[in-house]
Amino acid sequence: MRMSDVLRQLRQQHVAAEARPRLLHRYAAFLPLTDATPPLSLGEGGTPLLHARTLGRAIGCPELYLKLEGSNPTGSFKDRGMVVAVAKALEAGARAIVCASTGNTAASAAAYGAAAGLEVVVVLPAGQIAAGKLVQAQLAGARVIAVDGNFDAALRIVRELVAQGTSHGHPLTLVNSVNPHRIAGQKTGAFEVCDDLGGAPDYLAIPVGNAGNITAYWRGFTEYRDAGLVETRPLMLGFQAVGAAPLVLGHDVADPATVATAIRIGHPASGEHARRARDESGGLIDSVTDEEILAAYRDLARLEGVFCEPASAAAVAGVRKVAADGRIDPSATIVCVLTGHGLKDPATAQAQAAPVIDAAADPAAVMEALGW
Ligand code: F0G
Repeated sequence: MRMSDVLRQLRQQHVAAEARPRLLHRYAAFLPLTDATPPLSLGEGGTPLLHARTLGRAIGCPELYLKLEGSNPTGSFKDRGMVVAVAKALEAGARAIVCASTGNTAASAAAYGAAAGLEVVVVLPAGQIAAGKLVQAQLAGARVIAVDGNFDAALRIVRELVAQGTSHGHPLTLVNSVNPHRIAGQKTGAFEVCDDLGGAPDYLAIPVGNAGNITAYWRGFTEYRDAGLVETRPLMLGFQAVGAAPLVLGHDVADPATVATAIRIGHPASGEHARRARDESGGLIDSVTDEEILAAYRDLARLEGVFCEPASAAAVAGVRKVAADGRIDPSATIVCVLTGHGLKDPATAQAQAAPVIDAAADPAAVMEALGW
């Protein structure tokens, strides 16, 4: 190609980039927006859908796709819902937002709250938050309160705070996924999957914690089908962590955190919606062990170069399990939602990583260390 053609193409791309719609605009027809909703954005959405050929072959599912939600501005899917929730809070004249969180919601609320000029308060289970998530919230200026209890306790507390309001009379807006604007924003993940595949996948696999995201994806697929944009909906496959799988066991459980704290929630606020998504779609909700989660976590990095957080790897661990059991059709199109970025949780990454090899600062010593 000649240089002048290259330059012309780049100029066209610049024009296209300027015109590229933000998430709120792209899917405005499906979102609760008005002329008064501020055009808030940190560049969320539009995340990659990767055909994971090597990992797919390794687990016997050649049409395995990964939706890389760690590519969102704060490194998790929460940004899709948070941009809508915070824009609507601004529109309603809010001054402060509050959430309970295992870390990602907190990081997202802190970032969008900072961009919107709102006061942000996050209530977290003490000692259970991955380092990357915690510093994101702190650095963005949120006030971080660590309580001696689990996520369920933190959520009860913030609901009470919102019911009472502050002593100086400011109303608080709750930005957990019980806020319907969060679900509305998060369903855009389903729209993007359909847009990229040219139709709905056969299966959608997703980690389930408070059950907001599985609820949002099911709603997204349903709205796209009802609008005539796709013909089918996927079977929904939800995965929880063994020891903290209330939707599998049928009763609430409280589990001490080990890995994947984001999906260790005893009483999912949207549990009923998750069951409905499972039953209406003909899918399933199952549990995976920490060992299965960590094996998938390592394989994603080693076979695909995809570094996600452990909770996200639960979707791949689950697909591997139910494919091996013969409970899903392994030749079908399967999309796993990788909900958060691996850098969120450096401690787990370090514990799973190969050791660094020390060597003197000269080529011969490095070659010797490599065994060359
Ligand atoms: N994956 C990650 C990385 C998460 O952070 C969460 C939830 C989930 C999956 C589960 O999504 O709750 O919609 O079913 N994290 C919440 C938080 C609880 O506070 O950041 P869900």
